[in-house]
Amino acid sequence: MNLKYSSEDTKQYGGPTVVLFVTRFEKLTDNKLKELDELSLGALTTLLKSKEFTGKDGELATLYRPGEYRADRIVLAGLGDARKLNADSYRRAAGNVSRHKSLASSGKAAFYLGKSQKEEFYQAAIEGYILGSFKLLKFKTDKESKDQKILDEITFLFDNRRLLPRLKKAVERGVVFAECQNLVRTLASTPSNHLTPRLLANQAQKLAKVHGFTCKILDEKAVAREKMGAFLAVARGAKEPPRFIVLEYKGTRAARKPVVLVGKGITFDTGGISLKPGLNMHEMKSDMTGAAVVLAAVVAAARLKIPQNVIGLMPATENMPSATATKPGDIVTSRKGLTVEIINTDAEGRLILADALDYANVFKPQAVVDIATLTGAALIVLGYAGAPILGNSPKLLKRVKDSAERTAEKVWEMPIWDEHRENMKSTIADVVNSYGRPGGTITAAAFLENFIGDYPWVHVDIASVDVERSGKPYTPKGLTGTGLRLLADILYNWKAL
Ligand code: BES
Ligand code: MN
Ligand code: ZN
Repeated sequence: MNLKYSSEDTKQYGGPTVVLFVTRFEKLTDNKLKELDELSLGALTTLLKSKEFTGKDGELATLYRPGEYRADRIVLAGLGDARKLNADSYRRAAGNVSRHKSLASSGKAAFYLGKSQKEEFYQAAIEGYILGSFKLLKFKTDKESKDQKILDEITFLFDNRRLLPRLKKAVERGVVFAECQNLVRTLASTPSNHLTPRLLANQAQKLAKVHGFTCKILDEKAVAREKMGAFLAVARGAKEPPRFIVLEYKGTRAARKPVVLVGKGITFDTGGISLKPGLNMHEMKSDMTGAAVVLAAVVAAARLKIPQNVIGLMPATENMPSATATKPGDIVTSRKGLTVEIINTDAEGRLILADALDYANVFKPQAVVDIATLTGAALIVLGYAGAPILGNSPKLLKRVKDSAERTAEKVWEMPIWDEHRENMKSTIADVVNSYGRPGGTITAAAFLENFIGDYPWVHVDIASVDVERSGKPYTPKGLTGTGLRLLADILYNWKAL
């Protein structure tokens, strides 16, 4: 997509369509709208009277050939109440615009965001447009569903020339955030026969080459050499070999300690011998979303040339039942040396994260964030609306909350109490991997806590926000890629803790 910037008036734009983002109005007081109403011989007044368009969240309306406007078409996109206006208002409105069919087929459009020309609004608008247009076409064979229409040129109109460099940067950042989130959606949607641990590793390697970071891949032998007994306990049931993928992005020459991101990469979770029920088991193809978020966040860091050092760790394996699979009750020794009694082979994510969190120590991290589709209980506590976060550092937790605010990827902190830590003790080994249903999200984090090093740590459980079931303005039905904007924003705004 071609992006252009212009300080010309909306009237002067020579392309086929101008999109005006407008907050909710009861009377035509805004000068731009007044003018548009006059030029269109009262079309807006008519719309307003008929209540067809009043600038509400989600509303779209189209005016054709409004007088002296050079464009053929004005699309009005509702932002909702002016008092509640924030970046996500633009993200949603632009998401709605992305599904306006005739607009997309007109090829080019100008976006006018209104008088409040804030960077975050520009970033959010392009994010909303690119995210809303996402569609996975790779597995479709018929032509009709293949020819998806999307604008090939957007001109951002702005009032104040002096703002141009910053607004341009904000738009470019929005493009990177949205494209990286769409990369997560693509990877998470790709079924397990098309995305095995080896294929995921290949993808990581390719992206590393393109974007200029390094990718080291540990195979089974290397993983065994690292004594990752918890990770291998999950991998041993599968015929597909596991991979432990290590990404390294150097954004500064300084010997600054890296931020380490860790993502759960279960390319398919059957539950193992503690087999899951068949209903909706196909959804477990996306149990590698955490790893995809980590990969895409490192890509984002590289594309934005973020001046930090970032490490991405992606333990990747299938969780399969078989004659070689780990059995409930088995005891294994983790990389850290702690013994784990595997009560439930379906609590596999925490096993692979345990060894990855311990491996993170190799890089002497200044902070570690792990992200995983870890527990069904996340959905029970917060519904589909947000992701539980837990950790050991109020400062790092605050960073995550601030990024959640900016990116509209909601998080909510939950506690880890000694009672939960107690729950995870084993009678005959050091720890158990499951305490069953009570406090499921918390006990999973309490388990992970046993394996972290002496570093600030936050765990993000995205099991609740991974799938969109009905379709939202900028989130089509399917895998959402949630977590990418959060981590990319954390990295973008990073400063020493
Ligand atoms: N991958 C699942 C968690 C999950 C469930 C993600 C639903 C997305 C939607 C995870 O490996 C799992 O099976 N967790 C178990 C843990 C239990 C056995 C302690 C769960 O949440 O039921
Ligand atoms: Mn599981
Ligand atoms: Zn899982």
